[in-house]
Amino acid sequence: MIKTEVESLWLFALASKCESLTPLNTIVFAFLFLLSCLILHIIFWVHPGGPAWGKHRWRKPTSSNSPPIPGPNGIPIIGSMDLMAGLAHHKIAAEAEACQAKRLMAFSLGQTRAVVTCNPDVAKEILNSSTFSDRPVKESAYNLMFNRSIGFAPYGVYWTALRKIAAAHLFCPKQIKASEQQRLEIANQVVEVFASNRRAHIRVRDVLKIASLNNMMCSVFGRKYDVGSVNSETEELRDLVEQGYHLLGLLNWSDHLSFIADFDIQKIRFRCSRIVPRVNRFVGRIIAEHKAGNGGEINRDFVDVLLSLHGADRLSDSDMIAVLWEMIFRGTDTVAVMIEWILARLVLHPDVQSKVHHELDKVIGRSRAVTESDITDMVYLTAVVKEVLRLHPPGPLLSWSRLSIRDSIVDGYHVPAGTTAMVNMWAIMRDPNIWADPLMFNPDRFLGQSPNTELSVLGSDLRIAPFGSGRRSCPGKTLGMSTVNFWVATLLHEFQFVSCAQTVDLSEELKLSCEMANPLVVRVRPRRCPI
Ligand code: HEM
Repeated sequence: MIKTEVESLWLFALASKCESLTPLNTIVFAFLFLLSCLILHIIFWVHPGGPAWGKHRWRKPTSSNSPPIPGPNGIPIIGSMDLMAGLAHHKIAAEAEACQAKRLMAFSLGQTRAVVTCNPDVAKEILNSSTFSDRPVKESAYNLMFNRSIGFAPYGVYWTALRKIAAAHLFCPKQIKASEQQRLEIANQVVEVFASNRRAHIRVRDVLKIASLNNMMCSVFGRKYDVGSVNSETEELRDLVEQGYHLLGLLNWSDHLSFIADFDIQKIRFRCSRIVPRVNRFVGRIIAEHKAGNGGEINRDFVDVLLSLHGADRLSDSDMIAVLWEMIFRGTDTVAVMIEWILARLVLHPDVQSKVHHELDKVIGRSRAVTESDITDMVYLTAVVKEVLRLHPPGPLLSWSRLSIRDSIVDGYHVPAGTTAMVNMWAIMRDPNIWADPLMFNPDRFLGQSPNTELSVLGSDLRIAPFGSGRRSCPGKTLGMSTVNFWVATLLHEFQFVSCAQTVDLSEELKLSCEMANPLVVRVRPRRCPI
């Protein structure tokens, strides 16, 4: 903002030339100053994409000869901030349709230039290009220490080293296989909780979030807890994750309007500052226990891995805290949110649920429990999970935007360095030009002779890429999918799920992940053996 006003400094230069600065002159100059600001802001605002794009074009008129990217003007100064409030993926898709800019739309979030695509080809151009391999760091992410974690670390040596370490020690097939027993134990605990509440109404989210948190605590910290019992350590971490999730998911006006940044109007900085010492204490204590050799109950967890690094790879304690905290944070909610959507769809479509039951009986039978190796034979369940991911991706805007590190051409348009780029994966996965009957829940579209049978959801095909794509795609996708598939198979093998209400409300609430606005409440009927 200050720089914008600098463009009006010629007025002060003129004023300084005046021999006598009478009160009348002062008023005239103040008026001219305000008028020039107003005119400038109107000039910025009328540019396609709104004020941030107009200002850029004003500053660098010769930067490109390509036509402006179409997009809404929004409101002077603040641009289209309203698009990011509430169900942003719905609003952005509607605006792109209205502006006939589904391939690429420009818009302004205050002073931030943004582009968004609802098209798989353009999404590929953005996500797979090294130009968009950075992330815009939100103030809340910075204050919650995430700038030193994988997700928000700037693209460079530090980020590359972290990704390599995580890929080699947390997300590699060998490590995923090694943690199979842990997922099995937790799945059994969830089954026990559901079975002991079979006469009650069960809010599945509450159980799944604890299960998911315990799973990550085991992989990352080597801590084992029971899903059915409360303990202060899990409670504390759950509270930290929930508060962090809430803060990171908020639209922070200070991120986009620098002139209000000092005021912390939404108290985001203040709230972050209260969480961080608790995270430092919590994770710091676990690191100290590992250093002292009495850390986890299982042999080698991710803390041990980080502590064993040497030389250039060695992380400082504060960097280690950031990396570990992020893993807990990311791995917890996404998995629980996804399973809740899957169960909601299965309750809403009993015919689909009985087909899954039929497949479980055929592949496994009722005499033994599911194992992870059974999942490869469960083609129908796999199709159900894909169909839920298509309609209810946990990250409809891929959760985290990208930031361009240099000028580039996207879909024929000039996109300057420093532009925030988003992909509306939710809109792509519901596009009628790509999917037949896109709003219909139909797992069969991924089966049989369908051309979609071989479609991978892991990022190679941008028509369905809920984990993103390219070098910053989700590193936890295989671990996440293994957990989701196995836990869903186990729960369905043990129970039939029925709704407690007349119908299942599929309304969404977009926080950091897109959750069910009204948590799913079910009753379970044991299938395998009378409990
Ligand atoms: C199972 C459900 C999950 C979904 C739907 C999901 C989705 C995503 C998405 C959309 C992104 C951004 C990708 C992009 O920009 O192209 C992402 C990034 C990330 N995810 Fe996941 N995720 C899931 C599970 C996990 C798990 C279990 C972990 C770790 C334990 C994890 C760790 C991360 C990290 C560290 C990043 C940042 C990557 C980077 O910037 O380099 N995710 N995830």
